[in-house]
Amino acid sequence: MNLELFDATEAAEPAALPLADGALLLRGFALAAQYQLLADVRGVIAAAPLRHLITPGGLRMSVATTNCGALGWVSDRRGYRYDAIDPERNLPWPPMPASFRALARQAAARAGFDAFAPDACLVNRYLPGAKLSLHQDRDEHDFSAPIVSISLGLPAVFLFGGLRRADKALRVALRHGDVVVWGGASRLRFHGVLPLADGQHGLLGGERVNLTLRAAG
Ligand code: SIN
Ligand code: FE2
Repeated sequence: MNLELFDATEAAEPAALPLADGALLLRGFALAAQYQLLADVRGVIAAAPLRHLITPGGLRMSVATTNCGALGWVSDRRGYRYDAIDPERNLPWPPMPASFRALARQAAARAGFDAFAPDACLVNRYLPGAKLSLHQDRDEHDFSAPIVSISLGLPAVFLFGGLRRADKALRVALRHGDVVVWGGASRLRFHGVLPLADGQHGLLGGERVNLTLRAAG
């Protein structure tokens, strides 16, 4: 076998690994757009700074968060919700960059969800030790649209569970450039992220950034 040719083929057609019915891991799917995505992440964060949200139970989240798009996901003592206004700045969220929208649409289509039209993108920044407890994404109005998650920077262990919190979760290593899509029968699966391990990434240093795109409104 010609190893060079094999590598080139792999790069052009990233591996698609089914995780469950309606859930697909697309290895390296974001790599071709990584520089544009990172420039756009920086632009969003410059406009609407990262902050540690407070859960309804009064805990400060270890992950730092911002949003872009028509709607942003926020949490405070009153609960979780989508809001068109960033409560920190009292202004609309920055617009969703075309690079985010295009990649999410392509990834959703690869998983069988055509014409995905996200109106919300949550930007989560993990430093070593930051984690996300098992949860469902269920503040959106319409569960027929999938969730598309783009991972950049340091690797993380993604927990992909079942429809009940107690269901055993798959442990999936997510690396820079990986994209996960979950919808259909998997749309309400519990998921989370284990505490981020220390490390250094060539482009992001000691950080992981995850973008989750949703059709929320
Ligand atoms: C999320 O569930 O919103 C984020 C998942 C991740 O960081 O991979
Ligand atoms: Fe989530």
